Amino acid sequence: MSTDSYVFQSVINKKPPHVLGGKGVRMTIEKDGVVYDDIVDGVTGAAVGALGWGDEDVLKIINDAAKNSSYTYPSLIGNQASEDLAKFYIDHSPKGAFASALWCCSGSESNENALKIIRQYWLERGKPKKTKFISRETSYHGFTLGALSISSNGRAELFKEVLIDQENTCLKMPVCFPYRFQKEGQTTEEYVQELMDALEEIILKNDPETIASVTVETLPGSSLGTAPPPPGYLPGIRRLCDKYDILMHLDEVMCGTGRANPNGRLNCWENFLEPGQFPDIQTVGKTLGSGYVTIAGILVGPKIKDAYVKGSGQIIGSHTYASHGFNCAVALGIQKKIMENGLTKNMFEKGNLMGEKLKEALLLGKDCENNIVGDVRGIGGFWSIEFVKNKKTKEPFAKKLDVGHKMQDFCFKNKINVMGMQGSCSYKTGEGDFILLAPSFIITEEDVDEIVKRTVQAVKDCTEWLKEEGAL
Ligand SMILES: Cc1ncc(COP(=O)(O)O)c(C=O)c1O
Repeated sequence: MSTDSYVFQSVINKKPPHVLGGKGVRMTIEKDGVVYDDIVDGVTGAAVGALGWGDEDVLKIINDAAKNSSYTYPSLIGNQASEDLAKFYIDHSPKGAFASALWCCSGSESNENALKIIRQYWLERGKPKKTKFISRETSYHGFTLGALSISSNGRAELFKEVLIDQENTCLKMPVCFPYRFQKEGQTTEEYVQELMDALEEIILKNDPETIASVTVETLPGSSLGTAPPPPGYLPGIRRLCDKYDILMHLDEVMCGTGRANPNGRLNCWENFLEPGQFPDIQTVGKTLGSGYVTIAGILVGPKIKDAYVKGSGQIIGSHTYASHGFNCAVALGIQKKIMENGLTKNMFEKGNLMGEKLKEALLLGKDCENNIVGDVRGIGGFWSIEFVKNKKTKEPFAKKLDVGHKMQDFCFKNKINVMGMQGSCSYKTGEGDFILLAPSFIITEEDVDEIVKRTVQAVKDCTEWLKEEGAL
């Protein structure tokens, strides 16, 4: 069978492993002509598949949506499904957080829209000087040029010459990453204060009257690996935004919509912000359609909505497939099923159990002294494991060993699907290896044990390989 590929992505002209099907948390993959059954899906693509594989109810949801939908251009003729999905998200968020929503087709598109909504907000408020977007080093907000411009990692570095001005428009503040950058002897409060001071300095140096927004991933994903913000960090950003009249934008494309909510609802920030504190604008995606439809969105707070209503009252133009009726109807059906079955609650509980068991098996337990695991971090259904050459000094492996992706391969050999990444240590050198785990919301305790067992074996196999390579 030919291994050439007609699809222009990943390794050009080589077919990647292909999915053949799946059921629940298990899937079947064909790789280099061999079929592998019973692969445990530990990362659901890229933290997408909330309901798991082959959900029978989704067939009916899709069928009903298809029967009742027809396409219209959304800024001229709308549809009820997009209204209902917006109301659902607003109703399942703390009261007063959001007032409106726009639906689009990918997380990148949601962040592109967020930047434009933010910019127009300041025009509506009569503050045209507000043109600067602050975001973080070692972050990821999408694959399009605008979203890459507020990102900071290898994927963005490659295109830096053609991104939006990084000196004067898309400014970067330091990453928040206690495992690597909280100094020895420094308390959490001191570390958070250091980060707040750094942000305030950037705001003041660049003239607060010109700063439009601050964007952060509530729980970072593919660039850094699920480092939860320490207590006080997000509340501190909220306070600085209020102090200098700046919009706070949270990117929950990967961590949100039920993946890591402590209250059985949708938003990840409910773990971290203080009661009564909300982002002004939030982007979401991934689990919203659970991989069955391509949908993402932008949640808009009352402050922004009011400014538009009192101002021009309109947005000129739209994406052809914005607020797409079929996609919204399917996403709404999926979200209702998730809520009715308490699956966001299940994800939070089983995900935290998985995290604790991984910590015990790889970091804290008696056999862990000589393994390559430096850190196990995350919350709810979103976790990562970072690999280091030296556990004490946290020295990373050489980039060329590509331990993150090697770990992904060893996991696959042990029949678990994870995402291997590099660059957590430094977006410039690309050092810092980790794998991401983000299973579907339906996992059971037995699935958790299976994920832990297979991952632990993969770590052992990778350690042996590194020894053979003379890298340990
Ligand atoms: C935090 C975050 N924002 C935005 C995106 C981009 O989403 P998409 O790949 O759907 O364009 C991603 C993708 O992984 C992400 O993790």
